[in-house]
Amino acid sequence: MTSREQSYRLVNQRLDHLIAPDEDVVSAMATIVCELHHTCAGFDWTGFYRVTRPQLLSVGPYQGHHGCLRIPFDKGVCGAAARTGSTIVVPDVNAFPGHIACSATTKSEIVVPVFDVQGIVVAVLDIDSNDAAAFGESDQVALEQIVARLTLLLGTR
Ligand code: SME
Repeated sequence: MTSREQSYRLVNQRLDHLIAPDEDVVSAMATIVCELHHTCAGFDWTGFYRVTRPQLLSVGPYQGHHGCLRIPFDKGVCGAAARTGSTIVVPDVNAFPGHIACSATTKSEIVVPVFDVQGIVVAVLDIDSNDAAAFGESDQVALEQIVARLTLLLGTR
């Protein structure tokens, strides 16, 4: 097992204990980003953007340097993930047209959509790294499973 896989396993074990079945969704988001950011090596910005109006993402709970506050659906990697409902892995941010550089040191990123129980995108999880090509398929699988916890919580409302 790679150390990244070990980190995800550890994060999941902690989240199992920390997040109650009826947890507030924003509290759960804050706890997820805290655990990921402080456990996974190479995560330099870890946070959620929430859909707060039609076609608009607003920054939610995050760890790391200052993140831009609003991202329209037609901008950036986050907007593309929210628009398409698909996870986007960007090995080189300079090669992604329209990438929004919140930090000059970011080299790669992954953005994972969060769905409600109807399958509507309600948020995205954005993770930026100062390492090139820091994310791959195993990250996608692990992070999609982690954010699915939020879909379950939204289903209890
Ligand atoms: N890079 C993202 C913007 C968010 S910040 O990096 C925190 C994007 O292109 O959507």
